[in-house]
Amino acid sequence: MIETGGNGRTWLLTGAAGSYALHLTDRDELVHLHWGPRISLADAESLAAEPPPPYWPFESQLDGREEYPVEGGPRFVRPALSVRTPAVRGTEWRHTGSATDGDELRLRFADPVHHLGLTLHYRMRADSDVVERWATVAHDGPAGALGLELLRADAAAWTLPRRERWRLSQLHGRWAAESRLVRSDLAPGEKVLGSRRGHTGHQHLPWVALDAEGATEESGEVYGCALGWSGSWRIAVQQLPDGTMQITGGAGHDDSGLLRLAPGGTYTTPVFAGLWSDGGFGGASRAWHAWQLAHVIPDAGRSRPVLYNSWEATGFDISEEQQRALARRAADIGVELFVVDDAWFGARVSDRAGLGDWTPNPDRFPGGLKPLADEVHGLGMRFGIWVEPEMVNADSDLYRARPDWVQHHPGRTRTEFRNQLVLNLARDDVQAYLWEQLDGLLSSAPVDYVKWDFNRCFTDAGWPGEPYPQRLWTEHVHALYALLDRLRAAHPGVAFESCSGGGGRIDLGILSRTDQVWTSDNTDPLDRLAIQHGFSQLHPARAMAAWVTDSPNSQLNGRVSSLRFRFVSAMAGVLGIGGDLTGWGEDEIAEAREWVDLYKEIRPVVQHGELYRLRAPDGGLSAVQYVRGDDVVVLAWLQAQHYGEQQPPLRLRGLDPGAAYACPDTSAVHRGSVLLHRGLRTALRGDLDAAVFRLRRI
Ligand code: DGJ
Repeated sequence: MIETGGNGRTWLLTGAAGSYALHLTDRDELVHLHWGPRISLADAESLAAEPPPPYWPFESQLDGREEYPVEGGPRFVRPALSVRTPAVRGTEWRHTGSATDGDELRLRFADPVHHLGLTLHYRMRADSDVVERWATVAHDGPAGALGLELLRADAAAWTLPRRERWRLSQLHGRWAAESRLVRSDLAPGEKVLGSRRGHTGHQHLPWVALDAEGATEESGEVYGCALGWSGSWRIAVQQLPDGTMQITGGAGHDDSGLLRLAPGGTYTTPVFAGLWSDGGFGGASRAWHAWQLAHVIPDAGRSRPVLYNSWEATGFDISEEQQRALARRAADIGVELFVVDDAWFGARVSDRAGLGDWTPNPDRFPGGLKPLADEVHGLGMRFGIWVEPEMVNADSDLYRARPDWVQHHPGRTRTEFRNQLVLNLARDDVQAYLWEQLDGLLSSAPVDYVKWDFNRCFTDAGWPGEPYPQRLWTEHVHALYALLDRLRAAHPGVAFESCSGGGGRIDLGILSRTDQVWTSDNTDPLDRLAIQHGFSQLHPARAMAAWVTDSPNSQLNGRVSSLRFRFVSAMAGVLGIGGDLTGWGEDEIAEAREWVDLYKEIRPVVQHGELYRLRAPDGGLSAVQYVRGDDVVVLAWLQAQHYGEQQPPLRLRGLDPGAAYACPDTSAVHRGSVLLHRGLRTALRGDLDAAVFRLRRI
């Protein structure tokens, strides 16, 4: 809901339990009033009537108060907007109008010197406390006016209330070790997270959370901001000299340039979403999950199937017969979606060749993919394939024909990673080629699922002949989004997974057009607990793909673990199997079948329930709980038992203290109050033990 007061210059947005308020002063300064628990419009108006801070030489009266600080004028904070022509740098605004459209508020401004229009967008939905913010910048000058260099255009600047101490939570990592949660105290100055790599990156998820005065998992105030952008990005957290915290975020990493705006040109930033919660880190996560399930992830109400993926089993050495054999085994244990990974196309027999040529390898699939897809369907499963459309190997028909289609700088080395180059998706002809290839592929065989990979970062991101700042960085992402949107529209039955060497492209932007993400190439079930713990801070289990692979873990660390431990670890998200099933004994196949059956029973609770992190994976006992209506599922893991110690009971959350809960597996009945206060006893022992507990309110 949006309310307007103060002569049309004060706005109050209200969500499920929170409010956000802002005000336009009589000098057209857009100042922040409130972000936190619900307040009334009268409260917002009284905040707006308060005098500005006192004047001090050497300090700005605007810094830390503005909704969208621009470069220029009496400001010293990191600007959200930086624009220049050869003659004039910085901006000065006049307010030109405002509008509400349902739950969206639009505030318009203009800079007559630059002929620049700016629209700030705000949306707070009735069922959530997430505030979605983004901005549109337009060159409104006449034809022939000077082009504008847009050096920076953030989506928003968030201002937090003054508190004694702020702590930052972030999700950092690297390939095979993504999304690990780190907490640190913030000091005066600036902390910058981001990616300069052209994709979201394994190094940081575009999310920060700030808590003051020590929030815990279930209590305390937490502010979070998450960016919906799958290219290079930057989130800057600044503690200003007076202690105010301000967070800016948007596409592009540095100020060296975002793109060039010609007269008539516009640029729309990604959405930078903000959430206030007083339910601790767990409450904040559940609010983020609910918002993504309701408003971001497509078809989120639909459960994701149990999949099999052949990558760890076969690598590049694949054949139709081998895939058929794997498919039969997968069907036998209850898999619902069979995915052929890399190496089914072109001359792709290793990572040295074939990327770019999206037709089945005739030596490996003489009849194309349809015969295999038909067999998979005949076995009662859906059929999926792997693609990496944004890339090309130098050893490919595409590159031989179109060497100018890759990102490059004239006369410079074309850097290869994994023997591949990045296509310049900003080019219309590249977009047309990819559409033709992928649409043709999805039309040529009954494909139900596409795993869309991206296995290297941008390095030589040049577009010969294009003026600087080149729009290649932003347009690559827009073209990717447009391609996905168009494919989804033309092939509505096809689901998409975002992958980038594991979790290198996980963000709200890609999640708004894919059905799930590949969380990490690290399928070690113990390492995965920490990765999944981090992932759950922001994203729901419904989007988190997790595979059971072989033991010893062949991909990374050789760790030996039981099938039980591997399954319970992967059952915390969207269950998949990625081991070499042809090497599994009959007893393992039988056990796997039981785990898959159990997963299908608990799936609605895991994928659509509310998630409570009961204990973090830090060496001993860890556990996650899911609650959906009357149903409760607890997954627990013990890394190592020391000195014969007994594990503490798991104190459950989100239960009705007055109700009784029955376990369908043991018929035991537990009191809700006891589960909440004393906790659930687990009897986990030894090293790498795990268990699933089911409870139902009676
Ligand atoms: C990287 C992915 O993360 C893997 O799962 C697999 O698809 C390989 N690429 C294939 O090249």
